Amino acid sequence: MAHKSDLIATDIEAYLKAHEEKTLLRFLTCGSVDDGKSTLIGRMLYESKMIFEDQLAALESDSKKVGTQGEDIDFALLVDGLASEREQGITIDVAYRFFSTDRRKFIVADTPGHEQYTRNMATGASTADLAIILVDARKGVLTQTKRHSFIVSLLGIRNVVLAINKMDLVGYSQETYDKIVADYREFATHLGKDGEIPFEIMPMPVSALKGDNIVEKSAGMEWFDGPTLLEYLETVPVQQAQLEKPFRMPVQWVNRPNLDFRGFCGQIATGVVKVGDQIKALPSAKESKVKSIVTMDGNLEEAIAGQSVTLTLEDEIDISRGDVISEAKRPAEVANQFETTILWMAEDAMLPGRTYIIKTGTIMAQATVAEPKYKVNVNTLEQLPAKKLDLNEIGECNLHLDRRIAFDPYDDNRDTGSFILIDRLTNATVGCGMIRFALRRSSNIHWQSVDVSKQARSKMKGQRPAVLWFTGLSGSGKSTIANLIEKKLSSIGRHTYLLDGDNVRHGLNKDLGFTDADRVENIRRVSEVARLMADAGLITLVSFISPFRSERRMARQLMDEGEFLEIFVDTPLDIAEERDVKGLYKKARAGEIKNFTGIDSPYEPPLDPEIRVNTVEMTAEEAADAIIVELEKRGILEG
Ligand code: ADX
Repeated sequence: MAHKSDLIATDIEAYLKAHEEKTLLRFLTCGSVDDGKSTLIGRMLYESKMIFEDQLAALESDSKKVGTQGEDIDFALLVDGLASEREQGITIDVAYRFFSTDRRKFIVADTPGHEQYTRNMATGASTADLAIILVDARKGVLTQTKRHSFIVSLLGIRNVVLAINKMDLVGYSQETYDKIVADYREFATHLGKDGEIPFEIMPMPVSALKGDNIVEKSAGMEWFDGPTLLEYLETVPVQQAQLEKPFRMPVQWVNRPNLDFRGFCGQIATGVVKVGDQIKALPSAKESKVKSIVTMDGNLEEAIAGQSVTLTLEDEIDISRGDVISEAKRPAEVANQFETTILWMAEDAMLPGRTYIIKTGTIMAQATVAEPKYKVNVNTLEQLPAKKLDLNEIGECNLHLDRRIAFDPYDDNRDTGSFILIDRLTNATVGCGMIRFALRRSSNIHWQSVDVSKQARSKMKGQRPAVLWFTGLSGSGKSTIANLIEKKLSSIGRHTYLLDGDNVRHGLNKDLGFTDADRVENIRRVSEVARLMADAGLITLVSFISPFRSERRMARQLMDEGEFLEIFVDTPLDIAEERDVKGLYKKARAGEIKNFTGIDSPYEPPLDPEIRVNTVEMTAEEAADAIIVELEKRGILEG
C-alpha cells in the first residue's frame, strides 16, 4: 500500500469537518469469514472513489492506528491487506473505516466473522444505523446469518441490507435469489414480537468480487430493478431519527471557573436544544431554562445530537456528573431496578448475586445481577433456562443498582438505554446490555425509616457492632475458632451471634448447593443477614468458606466503615485434607462429592485481610487469643 502512514486523530477531525454538511451513515457488515465481507468493503471503497479511507482499530486495548490515503490504491492490494492483517494474528476486534462520496459520508464497522466474535459484532453494531448482512448465494441462510440478525434486532438497528453475494457463482439465478430472500423473511418473523419483522429488509443480489450491483448496476441481473448497494446507502434516511428524539445530554463534567459561571458539559445524545428551552435534570427532576449554549467556536442558538456543548441555565440547580439533562416535556425516566438483556463477554461466567460496575452514558453505579430469566440460543432463538451466562451468551436478567439513575428504555433511545458491565476487581468490561424497562417495584418499595437507630441499639448493648468474617477452606478451623471467640466475647458481656455455613445451609440457604452460582448467592444472603445483625447492634461472627474475593468484598461494602474484619484462617489444603474432620475430602477425592473447595472448585485467598491466623503454627485456642488481642487493638471491643 503506497501511502500507508500513521494516522493521527486530527486528520480524522479535519476530514470530518471538511464533510460536515453531509449526513453521516454508520453501518456494519456482518457475515461469516468467507462470505466476502472484506471484498465488499474493498470494492465499495475502491469504486466509490473515496476521498479518504482509513481503518482504525478502535478497541480500548488496541490503540494501533493504520492509515491509507489516496485513490491510487490497487484494489487487490487493499483486500489482501485486510486479509494479511488477520493472518498475522493482529487482533482488530472492530475496525472502523471512514469514506465519503458526493452525497454522504460513511463510517463502517468491520468485525471478524468467527463464531466467538459475537461480542465484537455487538460492539460494532451498538452505534450503527444500518447492517449489511451478507449471505453466500451458494449456501443460503446459515446459523451465522441468524445469529447476526438476532444481535442486529437486539441492538435496535432498523435497516438491514440482505446482500446475497457471489451471485456470479450461481449463474445470476433469480430463483436462487428469491428462495434465499423468502427463507430469510420467514426466519426474520421469529425475531420480533407477534411475528413482526423488527427492521426494514432491503434484499439485493450482488457480486462483491465482480462488482455487480455494488456501485454499478449488474449486466447479468436485469431482473433486479432495485438500487445498487452504494446508491441505497447514500439515500437511506437516517440521522433524522436521532434529531426527532427527545433531547438528552448526559453530563460529562461541571465547569465552574468562577462564581458567575456554571456550565454543564457533555455530548448531546439525541434531539435538539435551543436557548430558552425548558429542561429537566434527572434524577433530581429540577427544572430550569437554557440560558446559553457555549462551544469552542462561540455561542450557539441551537445544538443537535452529536455535538459537544456546555449548557448554562437560568437557575442555580444542582446537577452533577452522570446526571442527564433532558427535555422537560419528554423527560428520561429514573429508577434503580431494571429488566435488561445482557450479552456476556467474559471468560468468567456472569454469576447471579455478584455485583458489577454498571456504566451507562456518563453514570457509574454498582449493579447486582439476578438469576437470568432465560438465555437465548442465538442460533434457534429458543429460550432456555439458565443459572448464569457464559461467554457470548445472551440472556434476560434483572439488575438492581445501588442508586437511582436516569435512563430511557433501549427501544426508545439507544444512547440512554444501553450499558456496559465492568468487573470490580479487574476493571475489564465483561458485558453489555440494554435496558428493557424499569421494574415497577423499584418505585413502589421505599426504605422505611425507623425511629430506633443502630446507634441507639448498640448503645443499649454497650458495644460497637462489628462483623468478624472468617474465611478459609473446609476443615481449616474457622468454626472452631469462631466458636471459641464467641464464648470469650460472651464471657465479657458482649452480645454476639455466630452465623455458621453448615448451620445456615440447613435453614435459610437449604435450597443452595455448591456450584459457583450457588456459593455467590449463599454469601450474598449471609452478608445481608450479617448486615441486619450489625444493624441490630450485635457483634456478628460469620464462618463460611466464602471462596470468592468478589463476594467477600461485596460483604465488606455492605457494612459501615471499619465494621468489617476479614479473618483469614490460613490452613493449607494438604493440612486440612489430612485432618479431614468431616471425612469430606476423602469423599471428594473418591469423586463422591463434586465441586469441592480446593479440589475441583477454587478458593481465592484474601490478599489483604485484617487478620490472618496460621493454624499450622497455632492451636485453635492460641489463634482465638491472638484474634481477641487484635480486636482489642482495633478498638472493636470498646463499649
Ligand atoms: S461456601 O463456599 O458457600 O461459603 P459454606 O461455608 O456455606 O460454603 O459451606 C461449606 C461447608 O459445607 C463445608 O464446611 C462442608 O462441611 C460442607 N460441604 C459440602 N459439600 C461441599 C463442597 N462441595 N465444597 C465445600 N464444602 C462442602
